[in-house]
Parts: sequence; structure tokens; C-alpha cells
Amino acid sequence: MKLWGGRFEKSTDKSVDDFNSSIRFDSRMYKQDILGSIAHAKMLGKCKIIPQEDSELIQATLKEILKDIENGKIDFEIDAEDIHMNIEKILISRIGDVGKRLHTGRSRNDQVALDIRMYLKDEICEIKKMLISLENTLIDISEKNLDTILPGYTHLQRAQPITFAHHMMAYFQMFKRDISRLDDCYKRMNIMPLGSGALASTTYPLDRYMVADELGFDEITENSLDGVSDRDFIIELVSCLSIIMMHLSRFSEELIIWSSHEFGFVEMDDAYSTGSSIMPQKKNPDVAELVRGKTGRVYGSLISILTVMKALPLAYNKDMQEDKESIFDAVDTVKLCLPVFTQMIATMKINKENMYRAAQGGFTNATDMADYLVKKGIPFRDAHEIIGKMVLYCIGNNKAIDELTMEEFKNFSPLITEDVYKEISLETCVSGRNLPGGPAKERVLEAIQKGKDFIKSQINK
Ligand code: ARG
Repeated sequence: MKLWGGRFEKSTDKSVDDFNSSIRFDSRMYKQDILGSIAHAKMLGKCKIIPQEDSELIQATLKEILKDIENGKIDFEIDAEDIHMNIEKILISRIGDVGKRLHTGRSRNDQVALDIRMYLKDEICEIKKMLISLENTLIDISEKNLDTILPGYTHLQRAQPITFAHHMMAYFQMFKRDISRLDDCYKRMNIMPLGSGALASTTYPLDRYMVADELGFDEITENSLDGVSDRDFIIELVSCLSIIMMHLSRFSEELIIWSSHEFGFVEMDDAYSTGSSIMPQKKNPDVAELVRGKTGRVYGSLISILTVMKALPLAYNKDMQEDKESIFDAVDTVKLCLPVFTQMIATMKINKENMYRAAQGGFTNATDMADYLVKKGIPFRDAHEIIGKMVLYCIGNNKAIDELTMEEFKNFSPLITEDVYKEISLETCVSGRNLPGGPAKERVLEAIQKGKDFIKSQINK
């Protein structure tokens, strides 16, 4: 018998039961559902909407049910449709009529809105912890590579020398923004919808603030229609998750390129790579590739939820049950990727010599050579032209700029003197870029210190 069976003369077709049921995927919210119900029952008792002793029995029984679920003693039923009705049914089977009072002044519409918010609040906290651990790893790698010079790229063409620490700290910034985006998303998630009822609130004198307080919510929703039909917070979260994956995917792409023989900048630890079933020599960066691939899944969830919501009239519609699989999958995927990615970069080998050699080629000091002439009084545009010719000469003669003899230098400008060699060394190129935010060691150290302060402020939150 369905909990809502009263007005029906026939039972639901088996195929509709299967089709309609969400217990397969919403059972994971059992804890939030029970905690929400306990708070609701407590409030119903306190507001004298149900007898105090009934409220207490309901609360105690819900706690037992929670324990039993956690100990694997309960099988949910497809016929009971979703987690909300499964738990209510179990409650009623244990305490009969008293259990039937729990749903007073509540609808599954506000109940499900509450449960997802509670569930996702916990997930945001978990994901933030994982991001912080990734940030710590980036700082560790940076501290060990303050002097590791490699080419910085634009258009994937060698551009100017930077350090590996500076490169890693660029990712630090991206994940820092991800953390603050999650904080922001959490604020709007942390609003309590119970009391919205099915759509038009209820005639019972519920104390919504008490429930919000019990469950650790900052505020209550301000419109009952919106309270049950808003899923913006899910879209916002999956947007944040998509951006996290986009960052991980860009990082993965670089690691994949860097671990190619052609670059040889990094080598993944054996524990974080795989071989080929046919080519004995292969060592593949599968972890990075899978992270890059899984980004597509998370983007898929974003489009899926946006599309589900796009034409829904107010207020609740069953379409909204389709929000769950996507957001759960997105959350699971991000939680799967972050720790393994963090471990992969924590254990990878960094080939400093190959990085340095790459920076020596590709004329990464050409800008500095032009700037050298500017310091000697030549306007930048002219200096650019002269060094362009110098590079062309170097290409023709298979030399780097700093391999030119003094005589060759003089052919381009009589202003060039012995000090040029020091001025265009890779070390000078890096140390000279000491503006705030630049790659010079003291600036990267500053960035690392700020990064550490940020992590501390997050942990103390
Ligand atoms: N399982 C439903 C969902 O996920 C719960 C809300 C159902 N409400 C309803 N009126 N059918 O959206």
C-alpha cells in the first residue's frame, strides 16, 4: 500500500513503480533525511502541533533507524518510491500511528529540497578539504623548485623563462578561486526550505527558525514557491565543479605533454602510470588522461541540470527528481579525481636538467636581449627589430643568442658590450622579473607565504 494510496482505486503498474522510483540513487541521502525529520519532529512537539511524547518516540525511533541503516540491516523498497517514503514507512512499521504524525505540516517537496541542501553542504566541505590538500602539495613542489628554470609558453611556443615554482603557483591561484567559489556557493546552499510545504507553506504554526537552527542553517527561504522549486544551488555547485575539472584538465594536459619523450620535463611515478598490453616500452600517464576525460562527464551534468530546469513552471515538478543523478555523479567524479591527482603530482619526478635545456633553446631570452638595448638608449620598437634580425641570424647559424661572439654581437649594435652575457642569462631573465606576481624568487616566495596564510585561514574557518 502506498503512503499516498487513499485516492487511488488501482495499484501502480510495476513498470511505473520502477520508472518513478528514485530510491536507487536517493538512498544516499538517508542520513540527511533522518536528521531533517528528527528536527521537524522536535519542532512539532515543541510547538505543540503533535504531543510531546509522540515527538520523542518519533525522534528516538528515527535514531534507531539511522543506526540500523548504517549497520546494513535495512533494505529499501522500490515500491516505496524514494528515500523519504522508505524511511517514513519503516518508522510507521515500528511505531504505528505515532509514526504517522511525522509528516504533519510537511511535504516531500520541501523535504527533498532540505535533504539535497544538507547532503551537498557536507560534500562541499569534503571537496574543499581535498582542494586544500592539493594546494598544500603545490606549495611543497614550489618550495623545492624555486630555482628550477623552464620555458614559459604562449601558443605552446617557448616564450620567456620562468621557474617551475612560478608555474605551480599559477595552479595554486586557480584552485584558490575554486575554494572561494565553493564558499560562495555554500552560502546560498545554507538556506532552509522546510515549511514551504508542497508549495504554499502550511496552516500549522511551524517554527521554521527552530528547524534551521537545529540543522545548522544560516537562514530560511523567503518564498514557499521558490523554496520548493529552486535548484539554483545545484546548478551553482555543478558550475563550480565544472570549473574545478577544467582546471584539473588543463593541468593534466600539461602533465601529459611534459611526460612525453619530446619534452621529458616530468615523469610520473610507476605507481601512478600504466603500461601497454602490446608495446612493452610504454609508460602512459593514464591518471592525467582520465582526469581530463572525466571533465566531460561533469560538464555533461551541468548541461543536464540546466536543461532539466529550463522550462519548469512553478513550483515543484517531478522533472526535478532528475537533478540528483547528475549532481551526485559530478560530486563523485570530482571526489574521485582530486586525491589521485594530488598523489600523482606529489610523487612525480621533475627533470630539472631537461627543463633548463629547453629554456636555453627557443630564444627565450630574446625579450631580455631587446630590453638590454633599450637600457642602452635604443627605443623598444627598434630594439625589437634588431633582435628579430639577430634571432634570424642565430637560426641560420644554429646558435643561441648567448652563444654569439662579441664580434657577432657588434654587427647588430655597437652598444653591445661584454656585460651582455650576464644580462641575458636565464637566471637574470628570471630574477629581473621581480614585479609583484612575477617569477623572481623573492616574488614567488611572497606568493607561497600568501598561499600558506590562505590555507591557514581556511583551516581555521
Ligand atoms: N523523489 C522526489 C524527488 O526527488 C521527491 C519529491 C517528490 N514529490 C512529489 N510531489 N512527487 O524530487
